Amino acid sequence: MNDNTNNPPARANLMWGGRFEAGPAEVMERINPSIDFDRRMYAQDIAGSRAHCSMLVACGVLTREDGDAILGGLETILREIEAGDFAYDRALEDIHMNVEARLKALIGDAAGRLHTGRSRNDQVATDFKLWVRDAIDRIDAGLKDLQSALLAQAETHADTVMPGFTHLQAAQPVTFGHHMMAYVEMFGRDRGRMADCRKRLNESPLGAAALAGTSFPIDRDMTASALGFDRPAANSLDAVSDRDFAMEYLSAASIAAVHLSRLAEELFIWSSAQFRFVELSDAFTTGSSIMPQKKNPDAAELVRGKAGRIVGALNGTLMMMKGLPLAFCKDMQEDKEALFDAADNLELCVAATAGMVADLKANKAVLAAAAGEGFTTATDLADWLVRVLGRPFRDAHHVSGSLVRLAEKKGCGLEDLSLAEMQEVESGITEDIYTVLGVENSTQSRQSYGGTAPERVREQIARWKERLA
Ligand code: ARG
Repeated sequence: MNDNTNNPPARANLMWGGRFEAGPAEVMERINPSIDFDRRMYAQDIAGSRAHCSMLVACGVLTREDGDAILGGLETILREIEAGDFAYDRALEDIHMNVEARLKALIGDAAGRLHTGRSRNDQVATDFKLWVRDAIDRIDAGLKDLQSALLAQAETHADTVMPGFTHLQAAQPVTFGHHMMAYVEMFGRDRGRMADCRKRLNESPLGAAALAGTSFPIDRDMTASALGFDRPAANSLDAVSDRDFAMEYLSAASIAAVHLSRLAEELFIWSSAQFRFVELSDAFTTGSSIMPQKKNPDAAELVRGKAGRIVGALNGTLMMMKGLPLAFCKDMQEDKEALFDAADNLELCVAATAGMVADLKANKAVLAAAAGEGFTTATDLADWLVRVLGRPFRDAHHVSGSLVRLAEKKGCGLEDLSLAEMQEVESGITEDIYTVLGVENSTQSRQSYGGTAPERVREQIARWKERLA
């Protein structure tokens, strides 16, 4: 291959080919264009062009006739794209030049005036910000639906006891509702991070032009407000080279994906034949082609798996940006595919998780039986020794531990030990001890703010219902 030396006679680029003698190498034609992916920003690109055009007319940079012709042409292009009637050309590199070239074909020379006082550098930053802003609004709605699904399960199971774990070892009884509400809090923070990102993102790059601003008397406040930005970005160099909003979105997306992955992992474990804590619906599981008994939690596994590529998009974008001098560098064209993919997959994961949660059936009997296994009320026993006998907690911990060892040796639960057996270890123990050894008593007693007592859980459910309303 010798495309580098044997170029055909110049097929000079229509948009910027003035100073070129030769056309691009074949491999250049493959590495350079972004149209295959940035066409997803067509609506944002056209919105940005409309705002820019109206502003140029208002500022007297463009005549009203040219402005009207441009706005009419952009309208036609939007309709063509939406109808699937638009012929994208890779030789025109990206969405910005594809739209402009089509505009020229539609309205002639006036099209060439649209690019006055702007550059593809501020254009792409504007389009991408608008796209990410829409993605934030979509994911916020999705996360809210997921919170509602969790909230509904929490309400149904505010009293359903289950084992709470640390190290995946049975630790203390909690309620299934309390466990669901933990995720409501997590996804609430994810929404908060997305909202913060949206706030910081919402400054308009448009009018920063290539990097230095422009000599035309433009009105950046006007384009900013037309596009729903809070204000124009204050530094033109920063405006065209800032991709913080992409990195910040991907950071928030990665944390949300990790939360989703942890929930998916729990559903994966809980739905196994060994646990049987929950049953996932047929709608979110698959069968095995060889083992007829199987019901595989594929949706949960994919949610867990996709967290990897979402975090990968964050890592890739951070690495892509880390060495770039100001202002625009073409490296930054690599920001889009990763983010689009992360956004698509995050939205898919959130929707699939909301579906799984809404459909799942918690197995109350299995959860209750498991809640008492593994001596989960040993802490309640120690607390009783502190509260009733006034023993220091460390000593009480030791006594309770000895009783666990005894029960383990006998192969029974703490509540199955006789009073005499307990008194041999600690003579002060009375019949009253049995009131704290049941798992229901245990959860009931955790009345501290944020604790698992059903009343406390119901308070949190009520607070969130109000917030989501
Ligand atoms: N396709 C480019 C991107 O995705 C648009 C900006 C190109 N600007 C430039 N000066 N080459 O980032």
